[in-house]
Order: sequence, then structure tokens, then C-alpha cells
Amino acid sequence: MLRVEDLHKSFDDFKAVNGAHLTVESGQLVAVIGPNGAGKTTLFNLITGQLQPGRGRILLNDEDISKLPPHVICRKGIARSFQIANVFPRLSVFRNVQVSVLSQQKLSNKLFRPASQIAVEETGRILESVGLVDKKMDLAGSLSHGDKRILEIAIALGNEPELLILDEPTAGMSPDETATTMALIQRLAADQGLTILFCEHDMEVVFGTAQSIMVMQQGGTIVQGDPQTVRHNTEVQEAYLGDE
Ligand SMILES: Nc1ncnc2c1ncn2[C@@H]1O[C@H](COP(=O)(O)OP(=O)(O)O)[C@@H](O)[C@H]1O
Ligand SMILES: [Mg+2]
Repeated sequence: MLRVEDLHKSFDDFKAVNGAHLTVESGQLVAVIGPNGAGKTTLFNLITGQLQPGRGRILLNDEDISKLPPHVICRKGIARSFQIANVFPRLSVFRNVQVSVLSQQKLSNKLFRPASQIAVEETGRILESVGLVDKKMDLAGSLSHGDKRILEIAIALGNEPELLILDEPTAGMSPDETATTMALIQRLAADQGLTILFCEHDMEVVFGTAQSIMVMQQGGTIVQGDPQTVRHNTEVQEAYLGDE
């Protein structure tokens, strides 16, 4: 579904992404790992069009999307969450997701049914799938950090994405929240056939969850493969796992 080929992005003289390669198959749960500063967020910003690459290609279903603006890429079916939670704090949980569903439906069809009615069903379904139904009338700003991040995933789901991209979905979470969130991500991929790409700096979070892992270091890709392959890769062990 997605192929990143020899991608480069510099900020002035600094090479933030420097030879990144990535393949995401339809229905897969794929993780990008690498220490802070490895270029994970920049890679995601390139894929979603927030940034434009200096060199390389990004293919979505064989179409080169590397020069397209974010809203066009979004309409092609890529939705994302950000490393810092991004919700409307003074709207209810329900409203946050409904706004997202409504904006998607405005783009995709012009039914004569009242849009809010359609969105109510769809919004409820999404809140159900992420486990936020009980908190749907709470103000988003009053949620715990963990629930805010989950709400962000729900907002991204409102775009009905083909590919969901999550930037450190468990950043700042307690171990319990992290486990819940990773289980949710696995469930979304398994039950809804959603293709999910996420990044993480914590190895532990990734093994046992992702089907394919791409390891980044200093902007470049060291290796991509299944967890076993990556775990036994000597370059990865030297560069990243240290003396584990
Ligand atoms: N807009 C920017 N301008 C200058 N340097 C940046 C910018 N964005 C990121 N960088 C630098 O690029 C490197 C990679 O950053 P980032 O992609 O955020 O890494 P990661 O998400 O893996 O922690 C870092 O050294 C960061 O300081
Ligand atoms: Mg980052």
C-alpha cells in the first residue's frame, strides 16, 4: 500500500531524514522504531505532506504522493495523530469525533439526509471501537492524558482512513495505559482490517505488537523485517539494543 524509497529531508545543513526506506502492506501493523532524534516524526510529516522531501519517493498504491499537500493526502486515505495530543478541549468527546466524521462525509458524499444523523451512528460506532463510549459526554479537556491520546485515534478514525499513522501513541502514558493502547491498536488492525503505521522509541512496546518493524538511526533505515529478523540483526543489536 505504501512504499517509501530513499527519502531525504534536510533542515538547513542538518539531514533529519537521510535514506529512509519503508514498505507497508495492506492490513499490516507496522512500527518504526529508533531513538529520539532518529527522524521518525519527520518521516511521518513527509508521508502526510506536512513536509516535502528533498529527494526520494513516497508511493501510495503506486501513486507518487511526495509532492501533494496534506489535505489531498488525507483525502486519499491517510489519517494521522500527532506526537502531542491534539483535541478540542472544550468540546465533548462525542463532538470531537463527530466533527471529524462530518468533515469526512462532506468531502465524500452529498446525501440529503441530515448529516448530523448519519454522523451520530458513525461517531457512536467509533467511540465503541476505542472504548470511550462511557466518557462520550465528558469534555475532551477533562480526560486523562491516556484517554486524550485514544480520543485522538478516534478522531483520526473519523476520516475513514485506509492507512492510520500514529506518532508515538503511548508517549507519556503509564505502563497500564500503554498496554491498553497497544491492545487497542492491535484490535483495530485485526478486527477492522485497518492498516496501521506507528512509531515508538521504546523497543519493548513494539515487539509482540507489530508484524513488521523498521529501524531508523540518524535519519536512515537500518533494516525492516518481522520482529524475529529485526531482533537478530547484528547492526540493530549494535546500534540500538546495546548490550541487551
Ligand atoms: N523543523 C525542524 N527544523 C530543524 N531541525 C528539525 C526540525 N524538525 C526536526 N528536526 C531535527 O531533526 C531530527 C529528527 O527529528 P524527529 O524527526 O523529530 O525525530 P524523532 O521523531 O525520531 O525523535 C532531530 O535532530 C530534530 O532536532
Ligand atoms: Mg518524534
